[in-house]
Amino acid sequence: MPKFSAVQVSNASYRPSYVPVAVFAGGTSGIGGAMAEAFARYTHGKAHIILIGRDADAAARVIAGLPRPQETDGWRHEFIACDATSMSEIRATCSLLRERLSHLNFLVVSAGFNSMSTSKETNEGLDYHLALRYYSRYVYFKELLPLLANARDKGQQAHAMTMLGAGLGVPISTDDIGLDKARAQTIKALKGVMLSFAAIKGMTYSPGYNDALVAHFASQNPGIAFTHIHPGFVKSSGLHSDAGWLLAPISWLYELVMLFVAVRPETCAEYMLYALLNADRGVFLRSPTANVFSSRVFDAPVDWDANSPTASQAGVLHGVRLKGYSGSDITVKAVMEFTEEATSAQNLGR
Ligand SMILES: NC(=O)c1ccc[n+]([C@@H]2O[C@H](COP(=O)([O-])OP(=O)(O)OC[C@H]3O[C@@H](n4cnc5c(N)ncnc54)[C@H](OP(=O)(O)O)[C@@H]3O)[C@@H](O)[C@H]2O)c1
Repeated sequence: MPKFSAVQVSNASYRPSYVPVAVFAGGTSGIGGAMAEAFARYTHGKAHIILIGRDADAAARVIAGLPRPQETDGWRHEFIACDATSMSEIRATCSLLRERLSHLNFLVVSAGFNSMSTSKETNEGLDYHLALRYYSRYVYFKELLPLLANARDKGQQAHAMTMLGAGLGVPISTDDIGLDKARAQTIKALKGVMLSFAAIKGMTYSPGYNDALVAHFASQNPGIAFTHIHPGFVKSSGLHSDAGWLLAPISWLYELVMLFVAVRPETCAEYMLYALLNADRGVFLRSPTANVFSSRVFDAPVDWDANSPTASQAGVLHGVRLKGYSGSDITVKAVMEFTEEATSAQNLGR
């Protein structure tokens, strides 16, 4: 595990021979915002940084604080508004990026949603938890993949990162992947306050789906790095969860403990940035201190083989056991097929 001081030294030594292009979807505040700030600081502002979120004022505050190089050319700091609960908005945003950019070096998706009690559907009929914690990340990865591939073809770094809960995934179940049944089972409790099975499943299943996401993309795109990372307890809005009436009695205790346990977004961002800059290709599962607890490099796209003896084994990716990994080849394939269909423009009616 790298020490914090070593992480800072490593980040400070980042000297690409090109002006890097980085998208932070969830970069208007929280850990993503702190990461964008650290990235700008270490590149002395000489980077094309694109913050994506809904809050233009928050984005303007982040951008105003970024260092501005003397040179007028070769760098840019900008904001694009996009609601990550809408797959069609994400697709439109990515289409705009594909028109405007020749390549993309870094994609970081951190926009999330935490609630143990509220479960609802997005305007497109998707589970709200999954939309923010998983589907949006799938659509960003898929739609921006050509730009990442262009960076790799130029001999530059190409890395897509999803920030959620690496190592926390429960074994993926292929029954009710989209949580439609779970939402139907929502328990309505006293005073109209709800404790939702779907909300809890949305929280607990999504880390496993993010494992599936990086495993799938890495096994099909061997030249690009794909990371699922857990940020740990961080003093940003992602730390707090609407606990609902059942968990309310202990939520004050959680908040109290977090006062002492959680770190500042700036501290977490150093580790997240270290993980972003230090990955060449393959799949990486990383801890809050950027420790790689599982990784695998592929030399060519992997053929799917349902008859492989390990295809149904949880925690095994194409014959190799990965610590802290939730998928099996069969469940990953099922989740990817389900996601492709659930998020397709055709099925969302746009
Ligand atoms: N903080 C923790 O302790 C912790 C612990 C474990 C896991 N995590 C996970 O790590 C990730 C990052 O955490 P964080 O604390 O930085 O989260 P956060 O504070 O909730 O992230 C805020 C960012 O997400 C964006 N965002 C939220 N909803 C959005 C939406 N509907 N559309 C577009 N952007 C949206 C916000 O942009 P706008 O406001 O501009 O829309 C902002 O840029 C999350 O997935 C979180 O669940 C966090």
